Amino acid sequence: MVGWQDVCSIDDLQPDSGVCALVDGQQVALFYMPKESAVYAINNYDPFGKANVLSRGLIGDINGQPVVASPLYKQHFNLQTGICLEDETVTIPAYAVRMENGSVQISMTESPDEL
Ligand code: FES
Repeated sequence: MVGWQDVCSIDDLQPDSGVCALVDGQQVALFYMPKESAVYAINNYDPFGKANVLSRGLIGDINGQPVVASPLYKQHFNLQTGICLEDETVTIPAYAVRMENGSVQISMTESPDEL
């Protein structure tokens, strides 16, 4: 089952940067890469730094993978899969994203790969 939920307006997204939103009591970090026309959603919680900070991380590209670097200890997380590049045993939730009527929606129940 795919449950799409409104997260914010498309206008709330920051180009080449992250914003954070509360969905179902969970902090979600949204990243917008205008050059790729891509929006990614992952959980905002950094399991290494043990804090909700990932929306403030720097985003970029490592070997063709879109990533965010934690602002705390600089681990990188793949924005599509949530897998940590430095320690593949650590994965954070990554969510499917879509745009609908000017809103950004995510699905908390399906990972992007399953869509
Ligand atoms: S509440 Fe959004 S970054 Fe902390």
